[in-house]
Amino acid sequence: MVVLGAGPAGLVLGNLLQDSGIDCVILERAERAHVETRARAGFLAANTVRILEEHGLADGLRRRGQPHSTCEFRTADGRFRLEYSELGLGERHTVYPQQELVTDLLTRFLDVGGRVRFGTEAVAVHDTETDRPSVTVREADGRPGRWRARYVAGCDGRHGAARRSLPPGSVRRHHCDHGVTWLGLLAEAPPSLDAVGYAVHERGFAGHMARTSEITRYYVQCERGTPADAWSEDRIWDELDLRMRAKEYGPLHRGSVVQRAVVDLESDVLEPLRHGSLFLAGDAAALISPSAAKGANLAVLEASILAPALAADLVHGDSERLGAYSARCLEHIWRAQEFSHWMIGLLHGPPGASGPEGESLFHTALRRSRINSLRTSRSRQDWFAEHYVGV
Ligand code: APR
Repeated sequence: MVVLGAGPAGLVLGNLLQDSGIDCVILERAERAHVETRARAGFLAANTVRILEEHGLADGLRRRGQPHSTCEFRTADGRFRLEYSELGLGERHTVYPQQELVTDLLTRFLDVGGRVRFGTEAVAVHDTETDRPSVTVREADGRPGRWRARYVAGCDGRHGAARRSLPPGSVRRHHCDHGVTWLGLLAEAPPSLDAVGYAVHERGFAGHMARTSEITRYYVQCERGTPADAWSEDRIWDELDLRMRAKEYGPLHRGSVVQRAVVDLESDVLEPLRHGSLFLAGDAAALISPSAAKGANLAVLEASILAPALAADLVHGDSERLGAYSARCLEHIWRAQEFSHWMIGLLHGPPGASGPEGESLFHTALRRSRINSLRTSRSRQDWFAEHYVGV
């Protein structure tokens, strides 16, 4: 079995396959140090933790992960908190930086005899319509190589070789540009509130998400096309203070911005998630906007569905679950997409609009009403909690 990519999807899949006695190699373009230090997401859903626990992959997150169950909305009408572990299904998040999860998964995979070829870039997947597909690669020393297997799992992200290798017309692509852009920041500063903060402001959205006691992730909506380095650190903090309404609710802890990236909020779902002997999981299967922190959780879930299906086929010759893989995952993916899309509408003006000039009064009033029903309606809050933590 060849797996492309050592992110959450590829590493959960690799561990589960290895546990089922299936020989598996992961081909990873980056070097190990890069994979283990790349800061990405950090909010693990209750179901994700359950999956990882069930497979003995949760030691690190049990020791160092922080339970989290509150979000706070700040708007011109005031602020309110939702204690979501008291709502819906009563579930909470575990905050655990993705690079730490990846490090744990990688260490475990290597410990149980898994092989990872770092610095090996998959160039293309071939012969996916046969039961002997192959992957051509560029090895770490630049030389070309080829790997063959019964199946290939494309867990190599949105721009990976798996997606590129799908023959034209073999899958349908559902793409949506939500018309919103975020400047994503990692600040060397302690969290400023004990909740995820969502600020809805006429100048645009701002978000606050705890990572560790020294690091906080912030998002600030900006104009499409803004270069990542366009804003000075002072401007970033001033803008965050303004949108998070620091004058009313207390100042933010400032610190140096150690990482920044511009993210256009987009969704991109492929259907089906299989082409012959090539299976897609994680970002390679479906990209989801970060508005509801679902990406890594979906990646883990998909890998946990794919692994036993592959094992049933490879060990027992039973291909039924493999046949159902795509449909099962797409159900979860579309539920997450629907919620994430709703969140985007809750937190931003309509596509293209940022600032009051861009947004019609109608849309402003609509958004205000949506937030107000979340503030006041218990059934709305239950629905929110169930989907916010769930995958
Ligand atoms: N060959 C080999 N490896 C590749 C190639 C390639 N051609 N292209 C990409 N990769 C590797 C990347 O270096 C990365 O380590 O594939 C891995 C993909 O990992 P992720 O991007 O983390 O994707 P995934 O495992 O699907 O996890 C998805 O995690 O943080 C979130 O935003 C992220 O929501 C996404 C989720």
